[in-house]
Amino acid sequence: MPTYETNIRPTPSQIVEHPRITVIGTGYLGATHAICMAVLGFDVLGVDVDERKIAALRAGTVPFFEPGLQEQLVAALDSGRLSFTTDFDQAAQFGDVHFVCVGTPQAKDSAAADLTFVVAAFEALATRITRKALLVGKSTVPIGTAARLTELVAEVSPIGRELELAWNPEFLREGFAIEDTLHPDRLVFGVESAWAEQQLGAAFRPILDDGTPLIVSDLATAELVKVAANSFLATKISYINAMAEVCEATGADVNLLATALSHDSRIGGRFLKPGLGFGGGCLPKDIRAFAHRAQELGVGQAVAFLHEVDDINNRRRVRTVDLIRELAGGDLAGKRIGVLGAAFKPNSDDVRDAPALDVARMLYLEGAVVRVYDPEANANAHRAYPDLEYSDSMNHAVTDADVVALLTEWDEFREAEPAALGALVKARRIVDGRHALDVDAYRADGWEFRALGRPAQPRTAALAVDARDERPALSA
Ligand code: UGA
Repeated sequence: MPTYETNIRPTPSQIVEHPRITVIGTGYLGATHAICMAVLGFDVLGVDVDERKIAALRAGTVPFFEPGLQEQLVAALDSGRLSFTTDFDQAAQFGDVHFVCVGTPQAKDSAAADLTFVVAAFEALATRITRKALLVGKSTVPIGTAARLTELVAEVSPIGRELELAWNPEFLREGFAIEDTLHPDRLVFGVESAWAEQQLGAAFRPILDDGTPLIVSDLATAELVKVAANSFLATKISYINAMAEVCEATGADVNLLATALSHDSRIGGRFLKPGLGFGGGCLPKDIRAFAHRAQELGVGQAVAFLHEVDDINNRRRVRTVDLIRELAGGDLAGKRIGVLGAAFKPNSDDVRDAPALDVARMLYLEGAVVRVYDPEANANAHRAYPDLEYSDSMNHAVTDADVVALLTEWDEFREAEPAALGALVKARRIVDGRHALDVDAYRADGWEFRALGRPAQPRTAALAVDARDERPALSA
């Protein structure tokens, strides 16, 4: 139920039923949102301060890898409903509803979120908009930010509180960005007036008409939903990875454990995939910023477990290096390691806080000769870690390797033939950092095979067959 006072109902004429939309910030979130809103039939103006990004988008090129988005961008541009600009005056004049989708990276000197871009975007719009309009925050922010921004907007806006603010958190996953935007699990509207709720409803009409669940809340709850969801997902991943640590100490098998747990419908198998753990531009920084904000609010203890979640996650990276070192004979100096994967997850070229690259870097620092191959992320990885060697193909990356390490579970790696890879390497030794490979097939081909949270020695053939038959898909 809405919690605001609804004593003044807006007249229908105050709601723009088919609002013109601006999207500020054209990164993963903003570009996808702008393109999808145009696909849904709205007139959309995408805005960014980065001239190169805008030039690329205008020319029909998505400046990052996201399956299917390129085709949708071209279709949206062709429809005439989508355009891009760097001009905030144009944006202020154009939009009825303005979505702010700029980044909130981790601050350089603390665990807090850096709100510079969010504040700048709200201020740039608020000082320029001269008619009733709605500003909608989509960026992930510390609780209390929307309330602060409401005051800032009222102060700097020529129309004062006529310019309203709402919060509408975004839950899209990279790799599934279009699907998650067009068919979200739910919509959350953090609003302070009936007008804001109805105007936002008009902007999401096609998605709401699809039967998408809508939760209308106050601003703080809407902000909290996002960080609470990401914290829960991170905790679930670290939970199974903590169990992997216990498995390593006991000879138990975390893959079978996860499978058995996943059959309990109260637990479920999603985000219960053990391995190298979580990375990317969201989960790691969001749990840190949340813990930091909770501390500021005097409830740090309530989410103290998030520090443990972070630590478990980081230990998986170190443990993966340990496994690779063990397979390499106890010393990495001068050993050639073929690293498969650099992106923080498959179907993405994003290397922000990527576990794979972190492992590659640690191997390099111990003196290994590291050759990395990722189907999409080589260029970004090279920019982040120019000291590592990069290959244009999986085959080249593993040639003459003392150990192969699979660190991001792209299909290309899952589908590789153990015999074909075996013909290229110096020694048939592989660490599967993502539980993505068929251990029996590799071992049958003479590979020494190690994975986090699994016994070093093969189980009996009979047990292996039983387990495979019972294994449901543990999808992310
Ligand atoms: C995450 C959330 O899933 C989205 O709902 C949210 O909108 C987004 O952050 C955001 O805040 O913008 P994303 O960062 O794209 O999305 O990636 P995820 O699919 O959540 O994967 C995160 C990491 O967890 C990856 O490194 C992945 O390899 C790892 N993971 C995932 C596991 O290690 N095990 C699993 O079972 C699932």
